[in-house]
Parts: sequence; structure tokens; C-alpha cells
Amino acid sequence: MSEPLAPFKICSAMLENRGIGLGCKIPWPPIKKDFEHFMQLTQGSFESGKKVVCIKGRTTFQNTGEEEKARPNIIKIVISTTLSELPEGADFLVRDFNEAHATASRLYNEGVISDIWVNGGQTVFESAVESPYCAEIHLTEINLTMEVNRFFPKFASHYSAQSDDDFYNTTVEDGGLTYQFKLYRRLPQYSP
Ligand SMILES: NC(=O)c1ccc[n+]([C@@H]2O[C@H](COP(=O)([O-])OP(=O)(O)OC[C@H]3O[C@@H](n4cnc5c(N)ncnc54)[C@H](OP(=O)(O)O)[C@@H]3O)[C@@H](O)[C@H]2O)c1
Repeated sequence: MSEPLAPFKICSAMLENRGIGLGCKIPWPPIKKDFEHFMQLTQGSFESGKKVVCIKGRTTFQNTGEEEKARPNIIKIVISTTLSELPEGADFLVRDFNEAHATASRLYNEGVISDIWVNGGQTVFESAVESPYCAEIHLTEINLTMEVNRFFPKFASHYSAQSDDDFYNTTVEDGGLTYQFKLYRRLPQYSP
């Protein structure tokens, strides 16, 4: 019997033109509070001792900093059709998004992890936003447009923005940029 699938969450930062990257890099300067927000979201549960899973495409994983790769509370799943060996710092190598989701769901059902996060890039986000198991999209919306060639996919009426929390309605000034943290939740009627 196949593994029951678990809900997952997405975390990304994007520009006004939905840009998330140029080639294999993020083109805007580092924004500290956004990085702290990302670290906090993906830290897992100290109370339960559970870890989290982060799912990344090969390009994004290969360009992830060593500090982030070394975080012990994160189980890293890398999607690639071309790699033949587990890349250094990764825990699982899978062939497509469905296999990544099934692998993460097994860990969730075994009680090893508290959350499943999808962390990009564009190719992986395209699969993830289409899945009915995508429960939350955490987007840092940067008030800036730059020339990019990687984008966050449009998602329409299946999600609603959290609006009753100041955290998600405040403009943050950081590193010469301004941005808002946004949380979009999948509407119950579109969830499994
Ligand atoms: N702003 C942000 O928050 C953020 C976050 C993450 C990434 N990014 C940016 O996003 C860009 C990278 O995105 P990208 O789309 O070029 O690359 P990516 O999604 O990181 O990786 C693409 C590769 O992953 C594998 N892959 C992904 N989905 C697959 C699927 N469903 N089935 C089979 N293989 C799959 C393939 O590897 P093989 O070629 O080995 O088969 C594919 O070439 C970079 O610019 C990065 O900086 C931005």
C-alpha cells in the first residue's frame, strides 16, 4: 500500500514581477530579517525533538550555503534526474517531486519530522503549488523589480492571504529594501 501523503509548506522570497532568481543565484543583496524568518520557520520543534524536511531542486541545493546545508535539524531531499550519487550534505536523492513528497511523508508518518518545507527553485515550486497537499505558502514580497529569469508561479483562488495578523501586514525595512511577509493558506475546499 502506498504511503499516506502529508501536507507541506512553501517558503520563498519574490520581487514585484514574481522574480526569484537570475540563473542559479538570487540577484538582490542579502536581507537579514528575511533570512532569520526562513531560519525560524524551518527550525523544527525543540519541544518534540522533531526535525523538518527541506525539499530542493538540484540547482538550488548546489547553490545553498554551507552553513544552511550543515543545519542538523533539517533532513535534505534533493530532486535530480541527472545526479547518480547523493550530493554531499543531502540525505535523500529522488527523481521527481512526487518521490520527494512521498519520502517526506514517510518521515512525517513515522513521527521523525514536524514539517515538510519546499524551498525551490522555480521548477520545484511549479510542481508544489499545483499539489492539493500544499497547505501554506510563505512569501516574502519585496518592493522591487529586477531583471530575472526564474519566477515564482502564479497561484490563483485556491489560497487566501492571512490578513488578521500585524506580522503579515507590516512593511519591513532591511538592507536598503522594503518587503512584507505574507502567508497564503490553502482553502479547505481545495484540500484533500
Ligand atoms: N528567492 C527565493 O526564495 C529562491 C529560493 C530558491 C531558489 N531560488 C532561485 O531559483 C533558481 C533555481 O530554480 P531552477 O528552476 O532553475 O532550479 P531548481 O528548481 O532549483 O532545480 C532544477 C533541477 O532540479 C531537478 N528537478 C526539479 N524539479 C524536478 C522535477 N519535478 N522532476 C525532475 N527533476 C526536477 C532537475 O535536476 P536535473 O537537471 O539534475 O534533472 C532540474 O534541472 C535560482 O536562481 C535560485 O537562486 C530562489
